[in-house]
Amino acid sequence: MILVNNKFAKILIILLLLTLLIIGGANYFVWYNFKREVPIVYKSAEDHFKYGSINSGGVPFFIWEVLPDLFAEHLPGPGGYKSLGFIWEKGQEMPVGVSKTIVGFPRQGSTCALCHSTTYRKSPQDSPNLVLGAPTQTFDSVANIRFLAACGNDPKFTPDNLIPAIEAKHPLSWSDKLLYRYLIIPQTQESLMGLGMAFAWTNSRPDPGPGRIPSFNPVKFVQFRLPLDDTIDNVDDPPIWNERQHKGFDYHWDGLETNLTETIIMGALAAGTPTDNVPLQDLQRVEDFIRLIPPPDYPFAIDAVLAAKGKPIFNNNCASCHAFGGDRTGSFIPIEEVGTDDHRLEMWSQAVVDKYLALGDAQSWDFTHVQKQNGYIAVSLDGIWLRAPYLHNGSVPYLRDLLEVPEKRTKVFYRGYDVYNPDKVGFVSEGTTAETEGFKYDTTLDGNSNKGHLYGTELSSEEKQALVEYLKTL
Ligand code: HEC
Ligand code: HEC
Repeated sequence: MILVNNKFAKILIILLLLTLLIIGGANYFVWYNFKREVPIVYKSAEDHFKYGSINSGGVPFFIWEVLPDLFAEHLPGPGGYKSLGFIWEKGQEMPVGVSKTIVGFPRQGSTCALCHSTTYRKSPQDSPNLVLGAPTQTFDSVANIRFLAACGNDPKFTPDNLIPAIEAKHPLSWSDKLLYRYLIIPQTQESLMGLGMAFAWTNSRPDPGPGRIPSFNPVKFVQFRLPLDDTIDNVDDPPIWNERQHKGFDYHWDGLETNLTETIIMGALAAGTPTDNVPLQDLQRVEDFIRLIPPPDYPFAIDAVLAAKGKPIFNNNCASCHAFGGDRTGSFIPIEEVGTDDHRLEMWSQAVVDKYLALGDAQSWDFTHVQKQNGYIAVSLDGIWLRAPYLHNGSVPYLRDLLEVPEKRTKVFYRGYDVYNPDKVGFVSEGTTAETEGFKYDTTLDGNSNKGHLYGTELSSEEKQALVEYLKTL
């Protein structure tokens, strides 16, 4: 009896051990392939800004890499991701503004540099000059979302097409292939299709085009699930350099935040970082970096005598709102006073403020400086030459244009071509190449108006010329 019992117990123990081994093995398998984090740390603050992960999530990296080859017909033009305005430095694995992390398998994500860095060229022959912290001139975020959604909805999005394309770049083990075939590819397809549906509301509003995004409607409708409304919030991406000198300013075009650290967390959340996985230390590194990035020097000759004549004109007409230390610099000017397009203001409601204020309550970070204001910030003009097109909605292509009354400002122009026009002070926005490479901006569309901001429009043309020369020095 005892013998039988012993045998029975042995078998039981062996079975138990085997089960534990299998469960352990399965757990290890799941951990290794889906949760194992391999940190990628960039030594230089600059590389961290360009490529360092902010946990934003995105498309599995190997899939993201092959989409432009497999689905070129869904891109706006030739050149792969470059046709969506991504900036690619020579020899780099991914464009500026894209991160690669390994959480189980390699994943792609966005970084702050995606919308907050740009290139410019002094002539079509010049090679692109990259400026970190600058508003992007070329990246078209809505077109990017539409491209990804179109890939997900394409019947060609199958393991049979994707796996060989991936393998042409990266060898996959048999278990990797099984994972991609049965889990990663189907799940990615589902989320890309979902992305298309989540952003379907953009189809009923004017397209932002390159250098602009719908600012907080994505958060309102997609993350907070607030009811759809018909507001239009297409805005120019702002610069984030020289933050050290912006101390005490309100942030965002309408000053909806007054604290830089919170503004940065907001940027990460809007880029897709989950609320329970905000990488505070990595974001602190970004904050330290953007405090110090200097505004870029004007890259063409400046007429110093003319600029000196422009300085008192600036002091008399503009400095109270735009000079560092000006009475109203960095604070909001009521919409009735500045008179520019008010669509962006209507998008931001007390309901969104309340959602934001509650968002971090259970987290190690919190939002306590979010507010509703009814006007736009009188921003400082550091590096203003590279911030064209001007105003919050990017409706005025040239600095000189802003000093004309709205009726005389350019009505239709093309955004996204990165060659600079030093005569008008702004990017080349008209002519054949700008038309073929750029996106048509029509100031008569809703949210695109170039009205308001009449300051300086009554100056003589000599005074305007001197003022613009001075603005190049800021
Ligand atoms: C998808 C594009 C995008 C990404 C990614 C992004 N931002 Fe922004 N950011 C914007 C836009 C657009 C605004 C202005 C929105 C508005 O006011 O309507 C803005 C505003 C800001 C401001 C306020 C600037 C000012 O002077 O008012 C700061 C600071 C900022 N972002 C930092 C960051 C940081 C840091 C990250 C990364 C953690 C980030 N952003 C990621 C597009 C982006
Ligand atoms: C009463 C305050 C006030 C005065 C005075 C003023 N501005 Fe402005 N300015 C603003 C506000 C507010 C905005 C933002 C408006 C918007 O984006 O809709 C702005 C925006 C701008 C911009 C665009 C900034 C960008 O990043 O796109 C430029 C350039 C500018 N102003 C130049 C001037 C010049 C030059 C003068 C003097 C002739 C001047 N402003 C006088 C309040 C003022």
